[in-house]
Formats: sequence, structure tokens, C-alpha cells
Amino acid sequence: MAETRRTATLNFDNKSIELPILSPVAGPDVIDIRKLYAQGDVFTYDPGFTSTASCESTITFIDGDKGELLYRGYPIEDLAAKSHFLEVCYLLLYGELPTQAQMVDFESRVTNHTMVHEQMHYFFRGFRRDAHPMATMVGVVGAMSAFYHDSTDISDPWQREVAAIRMIAKLPTIAAMAFKYSIGQPFVYPRNNLDYASNFLHMCFAVPCEDYIVQPALAKAMDRIMMLHADHEQNASTSTVRLAGSSGANPFACIAAGIACLWGPAHGGANQACLEMLREIGTVDRIPEFIRRAKDKDDPFRLMGFGHRVYKNFDPRAKVMKESADEVLGLLGVHNNPLLQVAKELERIALEDPYFIEKKLYPNVDFYSGIILEAMGFPTSMFTPIFALSRTVGWISQWKEMIDDPAMKIGRPRQLYVGEARRAYRDVRHR
Ligand code: ACO
Repeated sequence: MAETRRTATLNFDNKSIELPILSPVAGPDVIDIRKLYAQGDVFTYDPGFTSTASCESTITFIDGDKGELLYRGYPIEDLAAKSHFLEVCYLLLYGELPTQAQMVDFESRVTNHTMVHEQMHYFFRGFRRDAHPMATMVGVVGAMSAFYHDSTDISDPWQREVAAIRMIAKLPTIAAMAFKYSIGQPFVYPRNNLDYASNFLHMCFAVPCEDYIVQPALAKAMDRIMMLHADHEQNASTSTVRLAGSSGANPFACIAAGIACLWGPAHGGANQACLEMLREIGTVDRIPEFIRRAKDKDDPFRLMGFGHRVYKNFDPRAKVMKESADEVLGLLGVHNNPLLQVAKELERIALEDPYFIEKKLYPNVDFYSGIILEAMGFPTSMFTPIFALSRTVGWISQWKEMIDDPAMKIGRPRQLYVGEARRAYRDVRHR
């Protein structure tokens, strides 16, 4: 629980209301307005939640000015250099780094859930082949509620635990199946002798008629992408999962809601949008035209992969991702890729441009992840599904934290009504 040491006084309309100020472990103090409506008959107004803490959490901390991201207190740079995705999953879910024995047990629990119910294969076949893999994922993950009845009772801690493990284990399988289905290739079953990232690459790129050997460096880069995307505090999709979960909806339905929210281009869809933008720019000489458009208030165009609601200095994930991009492109020998040249030049120009400096717009994680994924052979439509499978552990950890909190309430914001005042119905003949 956050500590209360001071109060803020709000004076209006001859009323004076004392509001407790809560001090977090890190980050700005928070004014507790829970009793404001009862005591003052007023709401607060904060569209986009730019000044609102929606919950108490112990999972992830971001300092946007310092460019700091901590999972359970550990800096993302340390985890990216020394840890691996499944260890990070354990950390996010249970709060501590695992011992060796705990890690072996966790790995075996996840590995034993990687296959999906065979009936789900037929479910996939109901989609059009040209469906976006995110559309397929929203549907299939939501449909997991219909396949795994024994882990949908949210009042049972054991069922919540099984649902969490099932989702971490099966999301890569579902994302790979969505990909295979969209390109008309047979589904590849998970291989439990491979590590988490290698297994995902194998399910995406293996075919029954020849061997596919996963390159360790690519598996490492994929594992790092997963770690960097694993959680990010109360972002739009995580808040969506919490809001859906606050009504008591089952965890599969809640994660499907998170996937739907992540899909938007202002959020997880930015990696696809960013690469499509680089393709549209095409050549270095066209960059100034796009920079001009990004600055033009009358043009809705934005430089995708730039800017962040919280990071106003740099995105620490982007720094690590940039290193990975250099490694992967070096390994695959794609230094002269025209898209990469456009990306590098765009980054250089934008970082020197007064507009971007003044508005604190830096390349975000999505600017580099798309470049890596494209070099690995993924189509742009798979970028956001990979983000979704990586974020699943964050969503489920946040969902579990919320359900475990005895103070949990249904999320129910109020509004500032600006529509018509009460009026009488008029018969159609008098309108
Ligand atoms: N290109 C050009 N101008 C931009 C950009 C951009 N990418 N991002 C913000 N701006 C400008 C806005 O026009 C605005 O200018 P104004 O003050 O003159 O009106 C100012 O910067 C602030 O922009 P907001 O939209 O108010 O900032 P907000 O914090 O709400 O938005 C967001 C953050 C949505 C990420 C935004 O920067 C954006 O749309 N970026 C492109 C999409 C993107 O890359 N999203 C990925 C985010 S990371 C992630 O989800 C993993």
C-alpha cells in the first residue's frame, strides 16, 4: 500500500475538501480523489488519462523523463542483456527472479501447455485466408474460453494460475498458426525440445517437406523482442484487459480484448504502420517531404515509430532494440537494404529537426522492431501478433494482480455530459 503523509486541499463553491496524497515507491505523488464525488459532488475530467493513476501496481515502473523501465525493480537493459523471456515471465507473474529449481518447474509447466486443442484447427479454418492475423488472434484467443472451461472460474486461484500458464504457452502457437493459415501452409506443431523463441520461429518457418534449423542468433533476437515487449505498466491494452477483467469476465476474453486494443496504429499496430511508412517513403530523397507532412498541422500524417505518451527523453527499449537490429542485419548481411537506409536517414534527420526536438519525439521501440522482424522474414502483418504474444504475460500478470486485490471494483468511469438537456418527445408529425 502507498503511504499517506500529506493532504491537498481543494477549495471551490464555499467547500473545502481534504484529499490524501499518496506517496509511491517511485514516480510522482498521487492525489487520492476516491471520496471527491461523495464529499464535493464533482467529478474530475481527464480524457486520455494523462494525469490519472488507474490502479496501484507492483509490476512495472516507467520514468518517462529519465527513459527508465523496470520490471519488478530490475532495469530492462539488465534483463535484456542477462535474462531470457521465460525468466522474465516468471518475474512478472510471481514478483521475484526464479531459483534454478523454480525455473525448471516453470519451464516444464509452460512447455506442457504449448499445443492447442485439436478442435481449434477447425476453428481457424473458418477464417478467410486473407484475414489479418490480428483479426484471427482476437477471435481465436476469445474462443479459448470455449475450449478451456476448466480455467475460466476467476474465483479459483488454481484456475487463474492454469489460465495464465495456458496463455503464455499457447499464444506463440496461435500466432504462428494465424501466420501459417494466412500463407496457405500447414500448421506446424510446437516442439518442446526447443526454447520458447526458437519454438516460435520453428512453428512460423518450418514446413513438413524439409528441415528448418533455427539460427541461435535469430532466436536470441526474437527472445529479446519478447522481453522488451513483455509489460509496460498501464498502457491502453493493459488498461483494456484490467477494465474487461474488472467485470469478472474470464481471462481468455480479457486477453482477447487486450489484443483488440493493441491492434490500433497508435499502439501495437505502430510497428506495422512504421514499416509500411518506410516503404511508402521508399528512397532517402523523399524523406524531407514526409518530415514536412509530419509537421503540417492540417495533415493528419504522423511519423510512425516516433513519439510516446510517457517517454519524453528516449525509449529505453528502443536503445536495446537498435543494438539488436544492428546485430541481426549484420548476421543476415542486409546492410544495403533500401528500407534500412531510409530508416537510418529518417532517424538522423528527425533527431536533428527542431520540431521533433521541441516536442520530444524520439524513435520508439516499434521503429526498430519492424526492421528486425522484416529481416527475419516476417511479413508486416505479423509484427503486431508478435507484440501481442510477447505482451500476454504482462496482461495476465496485471489481470492476476487486480483479481488478487481485495479492493477490486468494476471499472466504471463517469463523464462530462455535453448533450441535449432533458426534453419532451415530439410526435413525428411535429418534427
Ligand atoms: N509525428 C509527428 N508529430 C507527432 C508525432 C509523430 N509521430 N507524435 C506526436 N506528434 C506531435 C503531435 O502532433 C502534437 O503536436 P501539437 O502539440 O502541436 O498538437 C504533439 O506531438 C503531442 O502529440 P500527442 O498526440 O498529444 O501525444 P500523445 O502522448 O498523446 O501521443 C503517440 C503519443 C500516440 C505515441 C504519438 O506520439 C503517435 O501517434 N506516434 C506515432 C505512433 C507510434 O509510433 N505509436 C507507438 C507507440 S509505442 C508502443 O505502443 C509500443
